Amino acid sequence: MYIGVDYYPEHWPKDMMDQDLQGIKGLGSNMIRIGEFAWHLMEPKEGEFDFSFFDEVIKKAKEQGLYVMFGTPTATFPAWLAAKYPSILSEDESGNVRVFGGRRQYCFNSDVYRKYSAQITEKLLNHYRDEEAIVAWQIDNEFGHEGSDMCYCEKCHNAFQHFLAKKYESIDQLNETYGTIFWGQTYNDFSEIPVPKKTITTHNPSLQLDWARFRSHSVNSYAHEQTQIVRSLKGEHQLVTTNVSGGFFHKWFDHEENVKLMDFVSYDNYPVWGGLAEPIPPAAIAMTHDFNRGLLGKNYWIVEELMGAQGHNIIGYLPRPNQAKMWSYQAFAHGCTDLLYFRWRGMTKGAEQFCYGVVDHDNKYGRKYKEVQSVFTDIVQYENVLQSPIAAEVAALYDYDNIWSWRFQQQSADFDFTNELLRLYTPFFKLNTPIDVISTNRDFSTYKVLLVPALQIIDRDLGEKLTEFAANGGTIIFSFRAGLKDKTNNVHFKLTSPGYIAEACGIEISEIEALSSGQYVPLKGVGSKEGKTATCGVWRDILTPTTAEVLYKYEDPFYPEAAITKNDYMEGTVYYVGNGADESVLTDIARDVLTNNNMTFIESPDGVEVVKRTTTEGEFLFLMNHTAEDQVFEKFALKPYESKVVRL
Ligand code: GLA
Ligand code: ZN
Repeated sequence: MYIGVDYYPEHWPKDMMDQDLQGIKGLGSNMIRIGEFAWHLMEPKEGEFDFSFFDEVIKKAKEQGLYVMFGTPTATFPAWLAAKYPSILSEDESGNVRVFGGRRQYCFNSDVYRKYSAQITEKLLNHYRDEEAIVAWQIDNEFGHEGSDMCYCEKCHNAFQHFLAKKYESIDQLNETYGTIFWGQTYNDFSEIPVPKKTITTHNPSLQLDWARFRSHSVNSYAHEQTQIVRSLKGEHQLVTTNVSGGFFHKWFDHEENVKLMDFVSYDNYPVWGGLAEPIPPAAIAMTHDFNRGLLGKNYWIVEELMGAQGHNIIGYLPRPNQAKMWSYQAFAHGCTDLLYFRWRGMTKGAEQFCYGVVDHDNKYGRKYKEVQSVFTDIVQYENVLQSPIAAEVAALYDYDNIWSWRFQQQSADFDFTNELLRLYTPFFKLNTPIDVISTNRDFSTYKVLLVPALQIIDRDLGEKLTEFAANGGTIIFSFRAGLKDKTNNVHFKLTSPGYIAEACGIEISEIEALSSGQYVPLKGVGSKEGKTATCGVWRDILTPTTAEVLYKYEDPFYPEAAITKNDYMEGTVYYVGNGADESVLTDIARDVLTNNNMTFIESPDGVEVVKRTTTEGEFLFLMNHTAEDQVFEKFALKPYESKVVRL
């Protein structure tokens, strides 16, 4: 296993390198990640390549017995490239060309950019392909992050029109699919089709979804081009990855497609960042790990683990002592096998003066240094445990087309896909049940339970797969608005919702209502849930059961109908949660599901996360106290934010 830090030696006087590398080694590290963002250092002038600085860094790293992950530098192009070819710069929705000075301001559809970024990557790989200390290449940095996945420039517009001309047999077929007859938008030629930029009212939903698919194609075709260059030139001993950023459901590209040529996935784990008064909830952090493990269906690395407060302007929450260590153990528990902390020392100059590292600007080795040491000293004992596979029986499903469909037409002011996935995920997480987070493209037939949040796009094929899963004995929990649309982003015609899953759900959706911010509708339990009460927000489907049992109704004189149902469908069971029900309802259903499926789960105090991992050597528990209070789990006492691995 590799453990260490992200190190930017080019940020510091050269005479500090030896001391730095000794300090990094003193953590217990065996790896540094270098090179990302350093294009100008490698090509100070067009066509003049110079890797001597990093030659020296690698030589010194080897003296300390440190391995290297090297980042290709294409996230930050040199000023001379932008000055000579301003066409590489991307453009925002208002037509403003993004100026040099930040990062990732390149247009993915710029041939010039693709030419020059291919060239620097080829030169870099040819220079280091035989370097035995470099064991991994990181492609670019956090593709699409910070708004860089969207560009509205002329090149993207032309490329979009070509993308559509390739996708549709004729402009007539596009018109028919889009329904451009509406508002007289019929196109005579693909060259008439706009980029859906700001306009009066809103654009055609099919056009919007195709635009999102084109954005994804733009980012991913660039990523694949770069990955293929690295793969074709790298040494046999070198692996390829890219570092996935948080907020992956708010990006305009399909992450599973993005990483499909990689050897492994890397993730940047920041449970808190600039402007947040406190970290995101433990379940939300855990879900990010399960998502990244799901991308290639195997364990992954963390190449940026937060240790200090972070922020480009407003600085975020300061992790309490051992809290960042606890987040590291949570990552290991969820499938992380190798981990690097961001960053060795916080930089005194440039845009990230307030992205604090393991060592602060005064260069003293303090609390955070010791905290990292304690992680590395302990975790190396459990390498086999970390390598063990995680066999989840529960899977939460997502589909980027569906997510983008909701982003263009939010329908309810409070709708957010990530929140709706967490609504179903959190109860199972709190019962310490392993969960995979995977796309609907995957084979989900082997799971016992599927969590299917707000899946409004369900075509006949997916509907049949989900129905078959239930028929074969699976349990599905659908949440609201399921099955409304087809993959053209149009509402099914003459097909009562929930469309192709209606038979499995045993319901019809007779009416719908978007609930406003702060608006909640009371729910009352009936039948097997008699006496239970709850509320729901965000959205409600008014359900008419056909074969389903009603679990909850709306406390509503006008629409007293079914709100949440359960349908025994052939060998399986299908729940339909037709609203944004609160956690008490979903926790109760989660318990029913786990019990009825004879699935093991672990009860723990609220805020104490317990993950069991099994190897040939035995069973281990990862214990994470996410709270500021002393906690006790079975015979294990946990101080505030304490984390540990125990062998059963
Ligand atoms: C991201 C980037 C890093 C750095 C950190 C700061 O994860 O990958 O380059 O900007 O955030 O927190
Ligand atoms: Zn562009």
